[in-house]
Amino acid sequence: MRGVLYAAAEGLPYIKSGGLADVIGSLPQCIDHDKYQVAVVMPMYKKIIDKFEMEKVADFPVQSGIINKQASLYKDVSNGIDYYFIRQDDYFYRDGMYGFADDGERFAFYCKAVLEMLKFVPFKIDIIHTHDWHTGMIPILAKKEYTDEYHNSIKHVFTIHNLAFQGNFPRELMNCFNLHSRYFDNGDLKFDTGMSFMKGAIVYADKITTVSNSYAGEILSPEFGERLNEALSYRRNDLWGIVNGIDTDSWNPETDKNLFAHYSLKNMANKKKNKRDLQRRLGLREDDNVLLMGMVSRLTWQKGVSLLIEKMSTIMGQDVQLIILGTGDNYIENQLKRIEFDYPHRAVFYCGYDEALSHSIYAGVDMFLMPSLFEPCGISQLISMRYGTLPLVREVGGLRDTVVPYNEYTKAGTGFTFKNFSGDDFIYMIKYAIEVFYYRKDDWKKMMKNAMKEDVSWQKSALLYDQLYSCL
Ligand code: ADP
Ligand code: GLC
Repeated sequence: MRGVLYAAAEGLPYIKSGGLADVIGSLPQCIDHDKYQVAVVMPMYKKIIDKFEMEKVADFPVQSGIINKQASLYKDVSNGIDYYFIRQDDYFYRDGMYGFADDGERFAFYCKAVLEMLKFVPFKIDIIHTHDWHTGMIPILAKKEYTDEYHNSIKHVFTIHNLAFQGNFPRELMNCFNLHSRYFDNGDLKFDTGMSFMKGAIVYADKITTVSNSYAGEILSPEFGERLNEALSYRRNDLWGIVNGIDTDSWNPETDKNLFAHYSLKNMANKKKNKRDLQRRLGLREDDNVLLMGMVSRLTWQKGVSLLIEKMSTIMGQDVQLIILGTGDNYIENQLKRIEFDYPHRAVFYCGYDEALSHSIYAGVDMFLMPSLFEPCGISQLISMRYGTLPLVREVGGLRDTVVPYNEYTKAGTGFTFKNFSGDDFIYMIKYAIEVFYYRKDDWKKMMKNAMKEDVSWQKSALLYDQLYSCL
């Protein structure tokens, strides 16, 4: 039996801002527990402290360069998995998780604390599976700062969920580690004139994965490589693309507690009741027959909301309704706030983060929009398919790998796809989807079934992670 520790900055059921939390809340459960003993570790933010009561395991000092603080380790069990939390209130007892001026120091502390807490885990950790830049310094610290056999023998897998967020900081941040300056000077950590957590992980992890096959290829190119494509190209033989799954128990239209009416492949009629309920609750005209489109998203440039805003009047010139749930960039939020005034009872923007409402939207809408500029994997289109809601996506990254485009001749398909990141291509596909919805109802129904039959669980991908761990 080998020990695997998952380290990440967020994870369900404790805290979530995006798909990373979905992954951390579900992948550890799906790994073969006859072969691997697993645990998860994340920072203990204010929101977690305020909401969850848990057992304290230990207090311990964290000394890392100029950082010299006490940390506490807490533990909770969820779905049979041990979740550990690093508590340090100066760093993490704040409203929000990221986006603070001292994020570099906060996550430098976290990386070091993860390596210090290993002694309190009751089994030996053989593999640390780190996720995204917040954990990026763990491999180099374990290999170069520690000199003991335990830390040096650990193998490291680093998963890139989003290469656009790299954890790049001024050179002075090196002072937060006890690392020799040569690791900066030789280029391992250097990025422009500063240092990069993400680059450190790319250089020092034993294996690198990202969350879809297509994205694994894309990030080797300048277009998607975010200026780390060369560093990644050096590691291309150790780079795997493994597509995400979702937790098919919590995302299940037959049992989902947030739904107005449960439904399944055999009882699709009830899906319409969710649509009615959603329309009623959000003040839209109640109508079973109109095409109701939805979006649940972080509102950032990545998600292609600009295409939606650009084509809003053309889209709303069709016989459709639109619901958007999201929060993010002020500029995008302000643009979207207009739609309720411009298209009363036909469009609604719910500005914020709301887990329960998101479930109602996945179940209640007919079509889900995801015109992303780039998309490492995407969880939302997987959830949509599971709920018989057809995704309309751009053919990029994980969206390309998971959504089968509608074929009007064979009737195959689980959604609609378009290629170029352009408003015209987007609107062309929306109009095409509208036509299918109104005039080829049987095709639409067939696609809903195809989508619901799609395997969006972790089953296949968990086996791939197993294979990957076996290489270490
Ligand atoms: P990303 O991780 O890039 O944000 P994903 O599609 O991988 O995109 O995952 C997004 C996850 O976050 C989905 O589970 C989605 O339902 C959820 N989500 C995003 N925005 C919101 C919101 N405003 N309210 C509730 N859930 C949201
Ligand atoms: C990132 C990506 C998203 C992916 C998620 C989980 O947030 O933007 O595409 O699904 O991580 O891997």
